[in-house]
Amino acid sequence: SVVTDLPQYILNELEKGQEVSSLELASRLGIDHQKLIGAVKSLLSHEGVISTRDITEKRVELTKEGVDFAENGSAEFRTFQRVAAQGGTPQADVMKESYGKVGQSKAMAAGWIAIDKSAGAPTVVRKVDSVVDTVAEQLKALKLGDEAKVDEKSRTELKKRKLISEVTIKAVVLSKGAAFTTTLEKPEADLTPEMIASGSWKTTTFKKYNFDALGVQPASGHLHPLMKVRSEFRQIFFQMGFSEMPTNQYVESSFWNFDALFQPQQHPARDAHDTFFISEPANSTQFPAEYLEKVKTVHSKGGFGSDGYNYDWKVEEAQKNVMRTHTTAVSARQLYKLAQEGFKPTKMFSIDRVFRNETLDATHLAEFHQVEGVIAEKNLSLSHVMGLFREFFRKCGLENLRFKPTYNPYTEPSMEIFAYHDGLKKWVEIGNSGMFRPEMLLPMGLPPDVNVAGYGLSLERPTMIRYGIDNIRDLFGPKVKLDMVYNNPICRLDKKD
Ligand code: PHE
Repeated sequence: SVVTDLPQYILNELEKGQEVSSLELASRLGIDHQKLIGAVKSLLSHEGVISTRDITEKRVELTKEGVDFAENGSAEFRTFQRVAAQGGTPQADVMKESYGKVGQSKAMAAGWIAIDKSAGAPTVVRKVDSVVDTVAEQLKALKLGDEAKVDEKSRTELKKRKLISEVTIKAVVLSKGAAFTTTLEKPEADLTPEMIASGSWKTTTFKKYNFDALGVQPASGHLHPLMKVRSEFRQIFFQMGFSEMPTNQYVESSFWNFDALFQPQQHPARDAHDTFFISEPANSTQFPAEYLEKVKTVHSKGGFGSDGYNYDWKVEEAQKNVMRTHTTAVSARQLYKLAQEGFKPTKMFSIDRVFRNETLDATHLAEFHQVEGVIAEKNLSLSHVMGLFREFFRKCGLENLRFKPTYNPYTEPSMEIFAYHDGLKKWVEIGNSGMFRPEMLLPMGLPPDVNVAGYGLSLERPTMIRYGIDNIRDLFGPKVKLDMVYNNPICRLDKKD
């Protein structure tokens, strides 16, 4: 019969009187000894109900071959069976059997068979009519724990043949404890307000603390791959002496996003097709008055050695609030601040979110992150800047760079930065850069001999390449699988896989 409540079974057995070993109980039930020990441990958590004494016992166990012999007959028995009763069997055939070699020598030693070489090729012949497979019988008995049936000498022989082995088993002898009972009280796990109010806690048995319990795995936060790559870029900027710009302003006025950057008010990027305009509040009204006048003048009439764009610059256009389209809006604010506070050589960076009214596809979202660096120094040349870019991207693991002229309203010259990607085996555009125009810097009040270089790249692109993600929707947005966030590995930009 199957015992479902092992602890209860043990208590019932102990109730009958004598002490009993765990091995004995396990063999009575025909269950694994470890399982019985588990039940003993649970009983021990009830103080005083049972008591135990450790013992060790030697047990005989069948080896793999021993089990095989017990089930299918010993090698010598199978050899005898294999030999034809009339005329014998060619020795070569017997030897082909897995048991043949051992079987033949043991069966010969037992006097069951002989080898007849009189007819040329050796033949194995039977010497007796029938045999008893004692070895298999003994193994079967040992398997059932019937050790008394096998004498010492046979046991030594079986051990020598590696059919059995002796193991030492740790067990316990069980007896009634001082507080023995067959009706276990289920201990309370929690102390409740009711128990305190009624005073019943005084007589209640509480479950003991299990100080060995492993506890619940604490849930911890997981960094999104974008944040991991961002932190790598931040480290690189910090190593190179850059300080971080404050980027906590997604809504920006057109003034700082475009006008301050000498981007004319008719420029197509300032269209609702490309930029998200804010309807509430639609406008910003606070601007540094003097600076705003200078920006207006440089756009409409020129100045600082420039002809300007020669158009009717309108403050209403500059007031329009937008979701910032690039972090260069932040750079503009910081450069203006630098000019006001008194110029000193400065390296600044930012990594944060920007917004564009893009057509969405596998590589474009309406919001993404830009990594931007700005270097302001006296007499800075393009070759300085290219050297600095090489150093920056070398730290990102990109050694092979190319620069290609391009156009930005606010930089001249402007360069796209390409890197050769070993994995993709092609040149990929990694960034945009340039030297900010005097029409942008001089109205801010920066000294005329100061040059400012800037560069920008997206955070998504290197992240996708780094983590082998080819659809941006798998990286960012509602379709992102949390497993991807939980399981993605750490990021080292400078380490190639
Ligand atoms: N703002 C540019 C972009 O969005 C990047 C850039 C930054 C270019 C600074 C030149 C200087 O692509």
